[in-house]
Amino acid sequence: MTGFFTEERSVETVNARMGKHINPRLAEVMASLVRHLHSFVKDIHLTTDEWEIAIGFLTKAGQICNAERQEFILLSDTLGLSMLVDAINNRRPIGATENTVLGPFHVVGAPERKMGDTITLDGKGESCLFEGCVINAHGEPINGARIDVWSDNADGFYDVQQPDIQPKWNNRGIFTTGDDGKYSFVGIKPVSYPIPNDGPVGQMLSSLGRHPYRPAHMHYIITAPGYQKIVTHTFVGDDPYITSDTVFGVKHTLVAPFERINDGSTIWRSPFNFVVTPCDEGK
Ligand code: BEZ
Ligand code: FE
Repeated sequence: MTGFFTEERSVETVNARMGKHINPRLAEVMASLVRHLHSFVKDIHLTTDEWEIAIGFLTKAGQICNAERQEFILLSDTLGLSMLVDAINNRRPIGATENTVLGPFHVVGAPERKMGDTITLDGKGESCLFEGCVINAHGEPINGARIDVWSDNADGFYDVQQPDIQPKWNNRGIFTTGDDGKYSFVGIKPVSYPIPNDGPVGQMLSSLGRHPYRPAHMHYIITAPGYQKIVTHTFVGDDPYITSDTVFGVKHTLVAPFERINDGSTIWRSPFNFVVTPCDEGK
């Protein structure tokens, strides 16, 4: 008789249960997932106790999730999966600005601000002028590029993590370029911070002897008609965590200069140009 489960034919037995007329991509994805999961369990000879620990871990990850907390994304991030999915879906020509993880702290609908405005509303931190140009591969300025920026505050928290402490939209804003493609805004020199680590992902990191920190960075989403959306950060190069980002988000092309200028109340200047890629290129 066929169709009964055996250790040797586990993959074939499970995958044979799929219907004939299901979505072909779903069939491909699930067949591969089953193949890899079974192979993993056989490879390490997973014990029943370990399986129970894994189920307990996933249960806790689900239970801690809410509108503000997404433990499964943190799990994906800390296992390098988010960066891998991002890398294979955003291959770009050399010289184009690279993508990196979005992270859980982007909020849609930040205030549109005028070029040069400040995004820091809590008065904390060392002020920094961020400026540069949105250009294409030929160095031509991009008119109408929308630059959505956000960072943590000087204490290492995003406004949404401290709704009763920080002003709403603190260290966030949206800027739109003109004919010259130039952008500028005043924020703070960002500081490194731990990702939320009071849940199962935090426990996983500590069991693995890993720290939960991200090196200091400014987040950007850049959109322009006809060009690929860029989801990226710029990083502070001398940050102690620059080579050990817990979510693997650093790329050397995204390390930006932070120059001390001490110009009135502005202490730092961080120049950086963003190079956009046409929609149909490099995909
Ligand atoms: C962030 O940079 O905001 C972030 C990215 C991944 C996980 C947690 C935070
Ligand atoms: Fe961040």
